[in-house]
Formats: sequence, structure tokens, C-alpha cells
Amino acid sequence: MSSGNGNIDVGGLVKEDRVHRRVFVDPDIFELEMQRIFERAWVYVCHASQIPEPGDYVTTVMGRQPVICARHKDGQVYVLHNRCGHRGAIVCNRETGNTGKWFRCPYHGWSFETNGDLHAVPVRQGYGNDYDLGAETFGLVRAPHVAEYKGFTFASLDPNAPPFELPEQMRRCIDVVCERAPAGEIEVTGGVHKYEFHGNWKAQVENILDHYHPAFSHESTTTESGVQFARREGEESGTAIFDAQGGISEWDKAEIVTFAGGHGYQGPMPGADKARSGPVFDAYEKALLENNSPERVEEILASEFYHNAVFYPNMFIQLRALFIRVIRPIAVDHTEVRIYPIKLKGAPEEMFHKQIQFLNITHSAGSLIQTDDMEMFRRVQGGLQNSGADWVVLGRGRHMERPDLGGTRAPGTSELSMRAQYAAWRKYMSVPA
Ligand code: FES
Ligand code: FE
Repeated sequence: MSSGNGNIDVGGLVKEDRVHRRVFVDPDIFELEMQRIFERAWVYVCHASQIPEPGDYVTTVMGRQPVICARHKDGQVYVLHNRCGHRGAIVCNRETGNTGKWFRCPYHGWSFETNGDLHAVPVRQGYGNDYDLGAETFGLVRAPHVAEYKGFTFASLDPNAPPFELPEQMRRCIDVVCERAPAGEIEVTGGVHKYEFHGNWKAQVENILDHYHPAFSHESTTTESGVQFARREGEESGTAIFDAQGGISEWDKAEIVTFAGGHGYQGPMPGADKARSGPVFDAYEKALLENNSPERVEEILASEFYHNAVFYPNMFIQLRALFIRVIRPIAVDHTEVRIYPIKLKGAPEEMFHKQIQFLNITHSAGSLIQTDDMEMFRRVQGGLQNSGADWVVLGRGRHMERPDLGGTRAPGTSELSMRAQYAAWRKYMSVPA
């Protein structure tokens, strides 16, 4: 279903408590999203720990633009269009590695510094003197803006982008993860789970802070008493998805807080603050005590603060199972998701291995939980092809919203986060190129 023209009334597709199904199924809207959101907003590109040394790089995509994130000899991370300044070939085909001093295009051998500057052109004299090969367009063109917060690296392709800014509470979501590392910082060096689904990218973004669905979508992951399996080191069992009466009202206590820009977080999950124990967990606690006072360690371990956090539009952190999730929209009905385990620097190695084992169970492509969600994303995509009704309802908990922490707060099973995401979506999408 395509609008067939560029004149899309994006404002008319999003109301306070609902969105039109076209935002999920119209390829023209998808194209506009790539231009106006993913190639304009500040989007997450990598974590600094993935590329610690000069010459280290990872490749990714911002909207439809393939890019390289590279560490240059000046210590800075440069985000470079992955497109040769000669005849346009993709220069770097690998996902990650160390390129040494230069990237070399495999087609005619032009080579580029890791900050994008053109380094050398084979048989240079073949170009006349009117060619200024020092011009930026002959290099790997740099993204105009790159910013970092505690290693989390974001970039914008919009030369006129506003300065990078995260609400204080969202910065706190990153702080809390780093504080859990005995060395005070995290590393994203534990590999990646990738999965793709036949659905629109916004289905995954909506789902991150959706506490309404687990009791139903993930029913098969609970015991008869309604409790899920343990998800992390030192825990005896997981969260109760159903309360004593068989309902899900407990989850309303894991409230959602959202901010301008579509960001937000939810939780903590009921039961996440239960005391943990075990030899590996005890060794972790001991490592924390080496750099922190006993009172501070108690504070760090008690601070559940949140379960999932959304850094709109493309990056999400889960505090409980400790992973970063990044989405990459491929087409209106096709999305890739990457899951990166967070390594707490200074924590016992065994704890990280167990963390990855838990992640294999919950968020790999063949896991118990993520597969449930992907099936729902596929069904949403299929259902919204249907023209029997046009609107997707997001009104749950709207009457219970209240201002808090510079944003808005509402019960855990509300649809507050989706409303905040679509408010941001409408804002991005309403600004012409
Ligand atoms: Fe890269 Fe020719 S296209 S060197
Ligand atoms: Fe889910």
C-alpha cells in the first residue's frame, strides 16, 4: 500500500491515542522515515570499547547509508560514509576489524586515512592538475556530527542537527550500567546475536517498554504458578508474570517514564530487587568492594532503577540481563535486530559467560522469549495489511499519566511509551528536507 506520491500528511497519521496502519505498511512512509529520522536524528552507531585502538573499525548503517566507525590515530572516532571517493564502491566489507593505517578500496586501490582523508591514488599522474584530490568528496565523507556518552557513540548525518542531548534520567540509565562494573566502565566485546523479522521496525521499538504483553505472548515461559525462569547470576527464579490472583496488575507497579524525543524507561520488573547469592555473585560483589565502600556497593546492587530503556530511535539497554539492542530497518516489512551482551569490566569472567548463556535462552534467534515477540511482530505486519480498520489503538493508561522527573509517568502496562514514541516520530517526520 503506497501513497504513490511524496505528499504524505504525516501529522494526520498520528493522533493522541492511535496511529494509522499506513505507518506500518506504506513503503513511501518508510522511505521518508529513513530520510527524516534515521538519516537526520542522533542515532546510536557503536560503543567505543568495540574500537579501542587506532585502525579499529565497525561498519553499520544509518538509515540507508552504509558507514564505517573508525578509531583514528588522534584517538577520535570518525563516522565515515562507506563509499569510495572514486567510483563509489563500498570500501569496507567486513563488520569489524583493524584496518591498520588505511582503508584501501578493492576496486582501483584508492586508500583512505581512518579519519576519511584520501591517502593515495595509484598512478596519480593519470588525473590532470585540475583535480584537487585533497577535496573532501574524494575521501570517505565524514558524518558531520559524532558524540559520545560514557562510550555510547551516536552520530547524525544532518549538518544542521541540534547538539547531542539526552534527558538527565536517560543519562542516568547509562550511569547505572557503568556503576555496576567494578572498574566503572563497560565493554561491548562479547559478540552479537542477530535476528531479522518480517515486520516494521516500530513494532520492535514499541515492544521494548510494553509490559502489557508478557503474560500473554510469553505465557509458555512461565511455570504453573506464573513465575518465569531466572535470567541472571545469583537469582533463584525469575519474575512472577501473574500475581496471586492470576492477574497482571503487579506489572503496573513497574511504571514507565517517558521524555521528549521518544526516550523512556520502565520498571524495575517485580521481584528484580530480590537478594542474590552464589559463589560467582559473591566474587562479583568482592570485586565491587575493591573500588567502592560497602555502603556504595549496597546502593549499586540495590539500584534496579529500570528494566529496559529506549534511546529513540534505534538503541535500547536492558539492565537486568545486561545487553544493548540495536535495530536496523531494512524495508517497510523487514527489520534486523542486534543484541550485544554488556561486559562489566572487572567482574568475574565466569559471570559474563553465564550472562551470555542466559542471553542465549532469552534473546538469541532461537530463544524462548524473543521468538514469541518476533511472531507477534510478524502478525502485526500481516494484520495491518488488512483494510477492515485503519487505526492502531495506543490509549491504555492515558487517563493515568502524570508529570514526573521532567517527563511523564504512567503505570507499567500503559501505552505511554508508544504515545511518546509516536509524538517524536511525528515531530521528526513533519520537518521537510
Ligand atoms: Fe574505489 Fe575505484 S571505486 S578505487
Ligand atoms: Fe516480549
